[in-house]
Amino acid sequence: MSQAIRIQTVWNLQILKKAYKFDEKHQMNSIVMFKLKSQHNLWSNIWFLFMFIHFNQSLLIKIPIFVYSQIKNQYIGKMTQLFQNKRNFQEPTILHQETISVDLQKWNETSLQHVKEKIQILITNDNYIIYQSQEGIILRKYFIIYQFQKRELINDNFNPEIFHNLEQILHLRWWGQFGKNQKKQGQWTATWNGEALLEVGGYYQEGLKEGLWTEPIKDYRTKAQVYESGEYFHNEKVGRWLYYYKQNQIGGGLYNKQGQRNGKWIVLGEGFWDQSQVTYSGEYRYGNKVGNWDIWLNWNESRKIGGGCYDKEGHGFKQGYWVEVSDKFELLSQVTNIGEYKLGKKVGKWDIWHSNSEGNKKIGGGLYEKSGTEIKVGNWIEVSDQYTNFFQLMYHGVYKNGKKINKWDTKKNDGQVNQKIGGGFYDGRGDGMKVGKWVEVSDKFPRYPGITYNGEYKNNKKVGKWGIFWNNEENIKQIGGGFYDDGGDGMKLGKWVEVSDGFYVYSQVTQVGEYKLGKKVGRWNICYSDSEGNKTIGGGLYEESGTEIKVGNWLEISDEFTSYTQVMYQGQYLNNKKCGRWDIWFNFLENQIIGGGTYDEEGYGIKLGNWVELWDEFQILSQVTYNGEYKNAKKVGKWDLLYRYYDESEFKLIGGGQYNSDGIKDGYWVEINNGFQWTSEIIDDGEYKKGKKVGKWSQQYRDWNKIEEGFIKIKEMIYDN
Ligand SMILES: *[C@@H]1O[C@H](CO)[C@@H](O)[C@H](O)[C@H]1NC(C)=O
Ligand SMILES: *[C@@H]1O[C@H](CO)[C@@H](O)[C@H](O)[C@H]1NC(C)=O
Ligand SMILES: *[C@@H]1O[C@H](CO)[C@@H](O)[C@H](O)[C@H]1NC(C)=O
Repeated sequence: MSQAIRIQTVWNLQILKKAYKFDEKHQMNSIVMFKLKSQHNLWSNIWFLFMFIHFNQSLLIKIPIFVYSQIKNQYIGKMTQLFQNKRNFQEPTILHQETISVDLQKWNETSLQHVKEKIQILITNDNYIIYQSQEGIILRKYFIIYQFQKRELINDNFNPEIFHNLEQILHLRWWGQFGKNQKKQGQWTATWNGEALLEVGGYYQEGLKEGLWTEPIKDYRTKAQVYESGEYFHNEKVGRWLYYYKQNQIGGGLYNKQGQRNGKWIVLGEGFWDQSQVTYSGEYRYGNKVGNWDIWLNWNESRKIGGGCYDKEGHGFKQGYWVEVSDKFELLSQVTNIGEYKLGKKVGKWDIWHSNSEGNKKIGGGLYEKSGTEIKVGNWIEVSDQYTNFFQLMYHGVYKNGKKINKWDTKKNDGQVNQKIGGGFYDGRGDGMKVGKWVEVSDKFPRYPGITYNGEYKNNKKVGKWGIFWNNEENIKQIGGGFYDDGGDGMKLGKWVEVSDGFYVYSQVTQVGEYKLGKKVGRWNICYSDSEGNKTIGGGLYEESGTEIKVGNWLEISDEFTSYTQVMYQGQYLNNKKCGRWDIWFNFLENQIIGGGTYDEEGYGIKLGNWVELWDEFQILSQVTYNGEYKNAKKVGKWDLLYRYYDESEFKLIGGGQYNSDGIKDGYWVEINNGFQWTSEIIDDGEYKKGKKVGKWSQQYRDWNKIEEGFIKIKEMIYDN
């Protein structure tokens, strides 16, 4: 093995002393000690000792150990001994591994759909919990010991918290104590993006959940703030559990002593969120659904939108006529599938219906074999997952033995007529493989349709040159593309121009760079085009190793980057994680820094010290920022709410209040309303007590034509918690 010493991963830290260095004959390694530059008072006294072990040029293990300056010498002694013990050079062993499906908002280029991606959770014997994508990209990695609260390493591989979507991985943190036996003990609570989740929490006894608990549902997100609440006995749900959404009870039922659902239940639809408040009501018998189940859409009022029957014996099979909602069913995409089940399998004719304010319409469907193997046969019209009121994409073709065969057309419904806008061929053998020339239509962002991918398939893999085209209603122009490997691995290589998510007339963003073996490597530029031309506005570096890990200085665009809200972020990446100082740029009239703050240097993604953050709905007409301090990953102390008109240069204080040391709002607060902007400036003010609004709150309005008159009270609310 040839190894060279690399300690570049700590360049941006202040290296005080390289305490140990191993020779080349052995596996190469080094210890580095440094002090965090952070002025954060929790750490100002603490020295950090790190052990880095490298194999084959890549960083393998990085073990932080906290030491106070007074005792650093003792620790160096210990570490040196460790190093002479060969066993410590071994890769960390994996104690626990599981794969879960989470929505990473990732785009599948083959199926042209958002996919739930499988990610792996690894727990290692060096006390890390690692969330990584299948390509090995680390999404979040942290010590199982929590948030530096304890300084010894704890072996709590029993019962770690598991996150189920990207937002949770980034924002959800659990807080609590460990008992003597290194198991969770006592009250545990949670924060979301630094703010306490008031409702959430409960007790652990020797690592087991006991008694009353309230938890975020598995797929909790900012747009799906649903909690479930009930009782645990030795980590098993028992008795009545209820679902709460926006303070209202929306479902629930009973668990029996075996922890099975039993009796009448209302459960949430898969992917329940603000725009898709779907619930199912019916009966469970020993954990299986039986008899009639109804499907409800809850919006203003509850409306029955579907349902059917499960077998009477309680095997949990669907039986007979069913009206089901599509996977991506939501207010603007009300697609249902109607047909028959036999012993839990679809048989015979199934129809696809779409409904909107104008009524109900059959839009597609086809045949399943009678045999009950759920195999599609004959002519089918399928619809896009994102079949919405404003973009109606469908696929016409033939199935043979459950596989697509021969010509398939992609059509768009334009009012009354179906217009062909894409498609291609599947092989005639019935393998379901795409072959020859294809035009694939993106339905990624149905609000802004018009992107197609044109190129060739060989054995279901993209090969050779592919172009990305944009139909902007006036003409069709090529805006991106590149080459796939001719070997038929479907891997991108060489120079590529990629189209960003949500590309449309007011957000013409492309990324330009190089692929090696299907992975982004080296410098990638972000280009933005508008009426004034096409400029490079950002970018950064991917590691050459082909893991798509971002390193060094990056200038990135925000998710909602459009010509009227040009927000960008600039700072350092370390192993794909933001670390150190990050600035927030906003370009309107002039490009200036309007916010930012510091992430921990270790890549835990923890915000430290003073931050100026943008409001979620920040845009030209509602330039609102939050300004305050993070301590221990929680918002604490005074947070100010600042606001400026689009033509002003200074932000002015408009509201804010106080967080206590647990990230909970406490005391007098002035808050802005959803939809706050210059023509609709509405604020609320009143008292919080431990995170809950109490007593008299008033709502005030300011007329933008008469700013000098200030805010005028328009409403009073009483909270009696
Ligand atoms: C993308 O979709 C295709 C076709 O549905 C599927 O075969 C493939 O596994 C998907 N890829 C990922 C990464 O999910
Ligand atoms: C819900 O109620 C609001 C206000 O009454 C109304 O504007 C809206 O159209 C309703 N939405 C639906 C889906 O019925
Ligand atoms: C902007 O320029 C880049 C780099 O030359 C190019 O690849 C991209 O297609 C252009 N964008 C648009 C929208 O034309």
